[in-house]
Amino acid sequence: MKLQEHLAGHEPELRDLVLKIGESGKKIHRGFASRQSVSNTQNVYGETQMALDKWADQVLIDDLRASGLVRHLASEEQPDVLEFEGAKADYGITQDPLDGSSLIGVNLAVGTIIGIFKGSVLVPGREMVGAMYILYGPLTTLTYCLRKGVHEFVLDDNGDYVLQKENIRIPDGKIFAPGALRKNYLFGHMKWIEALEAEGYKIRFSGSFVADVHQILHKGGVFTYPGYVGKEGGKLRLLFEGNPMGFIVEQAGGATSDGRMSLLDIEPDGVAHRVPIYVGGKKEIDLIHKFNSEV
Ligand code: AHG
Ligand code: MN
Ligand code: MN
Repeated sequence: MKLQEHLAGHEPELRDLVLKIGESGKKIHRGFASRQSVSNTQNVYGETQMALDKWADQVLIDDLRASGLVRHLASEEQPDVLEFEGAKADYGITQDPLDGSSLIGVNLAVGTIIGIFKGSVLVPGREMVGAMYILYGPLTTLTYCLRKGVHEFVLDDNGDYVLQKENIRIPDGKIFAPGALRKNYLFGHMKWIEALEAEGYKIRFSGSFVADVHQILHKGGVFTYPGYVGKEGGKLRLLFEGNPMGFIVEQAGGATSDGRMSLLDIEPDGVAHRVPIYVGGKKEIDLIHKFNSEV
């Protein structure tokens, strides 16, 4: 089944929005071979950008503006929320146009992460109407959730997204993807990591959040990029990374946390809001809450 047919039960504007983002994903997929140079400029967070980040950002901005479906757009690569006057619908989008971009040069999987809101994007993730990501790996896959299950499609040779897995549920699993340096772990986090290791959890951390969470969604376990000594507020971003991927994992039967509460219940203090991130199975998230409550 093609993506368009699968979206048939949703309201037309939301269906069109997901399809438009899918089309932007196809352009990005095609752009990798021809756009490998490094621009050496910095994004608004002071991180070196690959040329592809900026290009992918512009592809999505142009396509979403032209769609007439989006009024508010927040991008990891932009300092402020963009407003598209005259849009016929009132959707708000958050985008990480290329997550894991430091891996482009070594040909590992990267992805586009999207959150979808009705109206403003500066509200808790719980209010999202949907989220999706496109993962560019050996295959290009599109995973979407509009509050009716989590579904995955693969881009085929004809340029169509074809259903690969419907109603994904996160299984039990014993892998963990721990970011940050062990020597900087906070006390509760260290106890939690030691407990996972004692249970036989194996490390799988690629440096691409979207790819690492995708693996956890399919194999179970947990991803974390915690707060740590010197950066207690964490590294990853609530709007662009934590909320959309967290929404999908929660809808697939998993859980999210900043170490104490669901990411989706956090009130953002701006587009640049960073947060400690735990995303995965309920039992692993319950366990970090237990260790943190003892601190
Ligand atoms: P981005 O490429 O959008 O800036 O995000 C990179 C993020 C995330 O994908 C990954 O989990 C994390 O940075 C890796 O950070 P470290 O290099 O500190 O491990
Ligand atoms: Mn990112
Ligand atoms: Mn990015």
